Amino acid sequence: MTSKELQTIFQETFASQALPPVYFAPGRVNLIGEHTDYNGGHVFPCALTIGTYGAVQKRNDRKLRFYSMNFPDMGVVKTSLDDLVPDKKAGWTNYPKGVIWAIEQKGHSLPCGLDMLIYGNIPNGSGLSSSASLEVLTGLMVRDTFGFDDLSMQDLALTGQYAENQYNGMNCGIMDQFASAMGKKDCAIFLDTATLEYTYASVALKDARIVITNSKVKHSLVTSAYNDRRRESETALKDLQAVLDIQTLGDLTEAEFDANCSHIADPVCRRRGKHAVYENQRTIRAVEALNRHDVEEFGRLMNESHVSMRDDYEISCPEIDLLVDLAWNTPGVLGSRMTGGGFGGCTVSIVKNDAVEHFVSSLGAAYKESTGHEAEFYVVDIGDGAHRLD
Ligand code: GLA
Repeated sequence: MTSKELQTIFQETFASQALPPVYFAPGRVNLIGEHTDYNGGHVFPCALTIGTYGAVQKRNDRKLRFYSMNFPDMGVVKTSLDDLVPDKKAGWTNYPKGVIWAIEQKGHSLPCGLDMLIYGNIPNGSGLSSSASLEVLTGLMVRDTFGFDDLSMQDLALTGQYAENQYNGMNCGIMDQFASAMGKKDCAIFLDTATLEYTYASVALKDARIVITNSKVKHSLVTSAYNDRRRESETALKDLQAVLDIQTLGDLTEAEFDANCSHIADPVCRRRGKHAVYENQRTIRAVEALNRHDVEEFGRLMNESHVSMRDDYEISCPEIDLLVDLAWNTPGVLGSRMTGGGFGGCTVSIVKNDAVEHFVSSLGAAYKESTGHEAEFYVVDIGDGAHRLD
């Protein structure tokens, strides 16, 4: 999709003469560090080159008009700045509306409404952060349209997360919005979610590539299961805080956790706490390994991460476990794990260049035979964070 095409469709959709500016915000894949971002731990995501595009123009009244080329059946959704309340019927527009609401909550009133055209090429329900990219995109478009220049890209990430939490009811951490706003070509972001300090690590995998496999499966109740995990981790933390002076589970080493975990009363919460602590330490070690070009160790830690998500955090599902098992048993695969929130979505694997073709055909065939689903594969290019295009 080119900027010119989006501008033309914008003009046709909103019967407008003006040439609107065009923006892009990427989706993300997380290489390691899952469900650590609301536990004060580290994450290691990178921005993709697929994402969400938008064109925007301000109006001279308080109306908001949204059109998504991905949801043409919904037509132009008309609402206003005086109607920023979550509503199931508002469908996808709850995301941009939530961000506008959040920007206003944080002290920037929009002087007038806007028209917004959206087009996204992240597969729906894939867990590659189509909603976070839409949130960051909206924040950036609103910031530029109204000259809210004091909002940094990091502020836009936080605003997107606030909207997701408070407007859309998903108690997510900061990882997805941060990756979409702050991504950098060919790098992953090593982010400490307790302080928001971060460094970029060059993803140099020698003779290997990152391959995403989309299971095409998304189990229902993902939001409530996600929110349950978050609550269980918080219970684990509370129990530990009775005996330890810690702010988050990210403050603990594995040995400290093991020595104190008997204080977590509920065995389920104990397992959740274990994942949060071990996964954080694993992420730190994985980034160290990558920085010293030890791709094999990085892959091994990815495998451990999957086992922990499967057994301790219990956020995998049979289809994803099958894809990961198949990958582990395919020559030339250095590591493979589920990526993202869980219960379906995608796996991420490190595959040697000369094994990628076989990986795609053999996993695709075996997965289809067992589940009936056609997996999709994306060989990843790491892109930049959200920016203006035209
Ligand atoms: C979802 C959330 C993120 C993060 C991941 C799990 O993508 O939006 O904040 O918690 O799940 O790592």
